[in-house]
Amino acid sequence: MKVGFLQFEPKHAEPEFNINFIRAYLKTSTFDLLVLPELANSGYLHDQKDELLSISEPADGSGPFISGLIAIAAEHKACIVSGFSEKDEQKLYNSAIAVDANGILNHYRKTHLFYKEKNLFETGDTGFSVFTCNAAKIGIMICFDWFFPESARTLALNGAEIIVHPSNLVLPWCQQSMVTRSLENRVYAITANRVGFEKGQGEELEFTGASQVLDPQGNLLIQAGYGNIQIGLIDIDPSKAVNKKLNAYNDLFDDRLPHFYKNKRST
Ligand code: ACM
Repeated sequence: MKVGFLQFEPKHAEPEFNINFIRAYLKTSTFDLLVLPELANSGYLHDQKDELLSISEPADGSGPFISGLIAIAAEHKACIVSGFSEKDEQKLYNSAIAVDANGILNHYRKTHLFYKEKNLFETGDTGFSVFTCNAAKIGIMICFDWFFPESARTLALNGAEIIVHPSNLVLPWCQQSMVTRSLENRVYAITANRVGFEKGQGEELEFTGASQVLDPQGNLLIQAGYGNIQIGLIDIDPSKAVNKKLNAYNDLFDDRLPHFYKNKRST
C-alpha cells in the first residue's frame, strides 16, 4: 500500500485556491492513502470567528473543499485525509475528513485544542474511531492530540494500523515524540505538517514542516524538509501493525493492567 503526505503552505482564508493547489500538485503522483495538513482549507490563525465561519464548510461534503477532495480521490483511486475548518451552524470545529471516490469515510473533530484555538473552535465531540481504506485500518488524530498519549492509544486499541495525523505544528517536540507513539502502539504513523508563517490573534507562528512516516517499530521511513513544499510517499505493509508481540513474553496490549492505571483524577 502506497501511503504518504503532501506538506504545503495553505493560503490563508482561500479554500478554493488551496483545493486547486492540492489537485494540481498531486496530478502526477500515485498513492493509495494521502494525508494533508490540519486546516488545509483555511490556514491556521484567524482574528475573527465571523471571517472563519464565512470560509468554513460542513462535514457532509456539500462545500467546495471536501467535494474537491472527493474528486481528487476519484482521480487517484485513493483515500485522502485532510484537516479542514468545519462549520456546523454557528459553531466551528478543527476537524479532519477522510474520503474516497464514493464520498466520506470518516469525520473527526480535534479533541485537544491548542492554545488560542480555544478562542474559535469547540472541543471535538467525535472521539477516536477507526475506518477502512484498502483493507487497512486507519485512525485520525489532529496535531496537538499527540501531546496526549491517550489519543494514539485509543486509536490503536480500536484497531488502527495506521495513525494519520494532519498537523500545523509549532512546538519542537512532536516529530520525535511520534516515534514513541508508534513504538508503544506498534502502528504506522503519518504526520502531515505544513510550512510557512502566519500572523493573527497577536501571534506570529512558524510551522515546522518535517512531515514524516514512521513504521510500527518507530523507524523513520521518510521525512520532509523544514520549509519546503513536498510530497512523501512510501510502500508499507499495514498487516505489520497487527501483531503487538514485542518478544515471546510481552504483548503490548495483553500486558496492559488497566486496574493499576486508575488514579485520583480518573472518573
Ligand atoms: C496545533 O495543535 N496546531 C499546534
